[in-house]
Amino acid sequence: MLATSLPAILTLPRSEQSAALRALRCALPPTATPEAWNSRFGPTSLFAAWTASSLMRGLHRSNAELLRPLLARPGFRVIEIGGGDGALWRDALPPDALPPDAQGELLLIDPVAEVGELVRASLPEGVSLRFRQARLEEVDPGSLPPADAFVASLVLHHIAGADRAQRQAHGLSGPGKLEALQTLAGCLRPGGFGLVNEADIHCDIELAPGEPLLEERLIDSYVRRCAPSLLQDAARRPDADADLRARWEAVCLHWCLEQVDLANAPLADRDVYELDVPRWRALFRRAGLAVQAEQFTDPQNLFRQYLLTPSEPR
Ligand SMILES: C[S@@+](CC[C@H](N)C(=O)[O-])C[C@H]1O[C@@H](n2cnc3c(N)ncnc32)[C@H](O)[C@@H]1O
Repeated sequence: MLATSLPAILTLPRSEQSAALRALRCALPPTATPEAWNSRFGPTSLFAAWTASSLMRGLHRSNAELLRPLLARPGFRVIEIGGGDGALWRDALPPDALPPDAQGELLLIDPVAEVGELVRASLPEGVSLRFRQARLEEVDPGSLPPADAFVASLVLHHIAGADRAQRQAHGLSGPGKLEALQTLAGCLRPGGFGLVNEADIHCDIELAPGEPLLEERLIDSYVRRCAPSLLQDAARRPDADADLRARWEAVCLHWCLEQVDLANAPLADRDVYELDVPRWRALFRRAGLAVQAEQFTDPQNLFRQYLLTPSEPR
């Protein structure tokens, strides 16, 4: 039903899509997948299906292409923020993609213990893991070692607010995205680079709960760009079995259509505080990072990859 109804809804004028989506949600039978966003990473989880999607495969492959030359250099150090289920390493940088004597260190920062285990299991031999179980905002900037690269893929949007001041203005304390980026910029060795991947959609805290523009922005990214790609995978990917196809449909429902409900959630519960391309560019500049290259990593123009270097030579 989703596969036939959603494309029809997306042909409606934009102003009619919100009500049509609500009607579709009411008409859909309930599914038995209670998994919440980011909560589980097992082989049968929606997260595993998500990282097997074409959207995520494209993103990880693009990151792997930029990382591979560095990983061939002995003694490299990469800092990764938010490791997910280790798909970057497991799927996009398998052992045979690297020289047999590749040797270096990955410092992973993530608040979820299970993520440390999954990334450890995904690393090629010769790459050792140092795992800090923490949110990036909690990490003392001076405690991070110098690194050749950092990777922050689909993680900075979990930090609400552009900066500390904006957070304070909305009743939140602590660092925002700017301070997190400054922490990362500060660890780059001379010649080092950073990779950031984020969806091109503005839904940060200046858009208040219940504001119609916020719902419109969430529909734009989750429903107009993300969901059709997942449904296309479910319909056409020759490497997928019936179970994976069903999980992609469940991702489409729970992680795309149901995400639109976040438009009415209290600010602190939103979980995704994303910026669009011009806002990310402005923030990188403020953090002392220059964009050397940028591109969408999928045909839907959802996920943008930014290749960053320090603005001032080190
Ligand atoms: C959407 S997943 C992205 C995973 C992976 N980077 C990828 O692209 O497939 C977000 C990851 O960031 C972690 N995470 C969430 N908030 C974080 C924070 N404030 N600091 C560090 N990691 C965080 C989650 O536990 C999860 O592993």
